[in-house]
Amino acid sequence: MLTEIDHVAIAVNDLEAAIAYYRETFGAETVHRERIDSDGVEEALIKVADSYVQLLTPTSDASPVAKFLANKGEGIHHVGYRVASCAQALDAVKAGGHRVIDEAPRPGSRGTTVAFVHPKGAFGTLIELVEE
Ligand code: CO
Repeated sequence: MLTEIDHVAIAVNDLEAAIAYYRETFGAETVHRERIDSDGVEEALIKVADSYVQLLTPTSDASPVAKFLANKGEGIHHVGYRVASCAQALDAVKAGGHRVIDEAPRPGSRGTTVAFVHPKGAFGTLIELVEE
């Protein structure tokens, strides 16, 4: 069901500094930037082969990423897996009796359709199902 790793999301305090770090240290370029007001985040996508590193920074104090940074500090926030059908993958999680954050698929960045699976029930990792 999981076809590829779409992205590894990393919560950072300073988006510009993190973008510069990846460019200067690894020659890795940002290929997409987007502000997602419904999630209270701004993202920068850095392409690595067919996957991305998604640098995430909060745009408001109410953002879940702001809470994450306050509680845990900078670091890996979630892993996004590509799926052919977000709805089908989400149903499979629910059918297995596991907790989800999104009861139904919703729009993500880059025109994707996404849903989040709760880390409690997924061995501590916040999982995002990503349909392109
Ligand atoms: Co994501």
